[in-house]
Amino acid sequence: MLSVTGLDAGLVELGGLLFTDQDLSGGAGRSCATCHKLDGGGEDGKRRAIGIDGEELLFNVPSIFNAAKNYRFNWRGNFTTLEEQNEAILLDPNVMGATWPRILRTLGDNPDYVERFQQVLGERPTRRGVLDALGAFQRSLTTPDSRFDRYLRGDAAAITAEEEQGYVLFKAFGCVSCHQGENIGGNLMQRFPVFSPRFAQERQHESQASRRADLGRYTITERPEDRYLFRVPSLRNVALTAPYFHDGRSASLHDAVDEMAASQLGRRLPRASVDLIVKFLATLSGRTDMGVRPAAQDKRY
Ligand code: HEC
Ligand code: HEC
Repeated sequence: MLSVTGLDAGLVELGGLLFTDQDLSGGAGRSCATCHKLDGGGEDGKRRAIGIDGEELLFNVPSIFNAAKNYRFNWRGNFTTLEEQNEAILLDPNVMGATWPRILRTLGDNPDYVERFQQVLGERPTRRGVLDALGAFQRSLTTPDSRFDRYLRGDAAAITAEEEQGYVLFKAFGCVSCHQGENIGGNLMQRFPVFSPRFAQERQHESQASRRADLGRYTITERPEDRYLFRVPSLRNVALTAPYFHDGRSASLHDAVDEMAASQLGRRLPRASVDLIVKFLATLSGRTDMGVRPAAQDKRY
């Protein structure tokens, strides 16, 4: 286990226990880690999340890795702090289905939690303490030392010649105008699509609710200028997080890059260029062994 600078190790560990504890969802038998799996890409590999009622929800699960560094949270950027986002998802009847009285009763009845809260925060479990611990744990979930990071630090041999060509194209085609900064995304709201979508025909078969979700931020604010606005996702570890986009419409990274070229740049890219960009994107996968991983045999997982 590595310690993450600036975070209290005890708080991170407590947050890790909460993140993987199915008791938080009452009888629903799920934890945060059910959807944000801590091995692999930090999501569930499904097209869209599955609600407690067993039905598909409207959105694809974003990766929990590096998520804390995004400037806004969720596809529609509807939260500006991790704690607000976490509370909303905890209390969402179809996601975690929790209530504060029940969470605090469950934790308060568990001597192990009572002792840990006392040790780390000097008090019994509280709403604030739960959100602080969950937040600290998620802030520890960074994925440093990707081959691309090493390349940027001056290790020219960290990526291959083809991957480097893909990086050159990623810049030349303008992908970098939206996917930029430390998270290679996660710091802007942008329209999707800018140009008419490649999948317009296929979208006709989607449910009305799903097609409404395509309106993005507008579905929250109802302001005309927010139509089709989404937070640009981080591309870190993107090779591990198929399927892609807010509704999981693209099953492969090749398909996602084709879609981006068509809908964001208004062009079709030659197959060879798409291949190179996909190779470059794979260099963005970092180490996923940071922070605390509660033992897999633990019933909480
Ligand atoms: C049923 C699957 C599911 C469960 C369980 C779940 N999430 Fe999520 N999570 C999602 C989906 C779907 C989104 C995107 C929602 C949206 O955009 O409206 C999301 C978004 C997030 C985000 C925002 C990431 C970003 O980059 O914007 C964070 C942070 C997060 N969840 C944390 C948690 C925590 C903490 C828990 C447990 C308390 C949890 N999630 C439980 C499905 C789930
Ligand atoms: C005008 C801004 C913009 C440009 C330019 C752009 N993107 Fe995106 N990208 C977005 C937005 C917004 C999304 C999220 C769309 C959604 O799902 O609602 C996204 C999503 C993605 C995804 C899916 C990520 C995931 O986790 O689901 C990939 C991969 C991607 N972009 C790669 C690229 C590549 C490669 C290029 C250049 C060919 C590019 N993007 C150009 C704004 C942009």
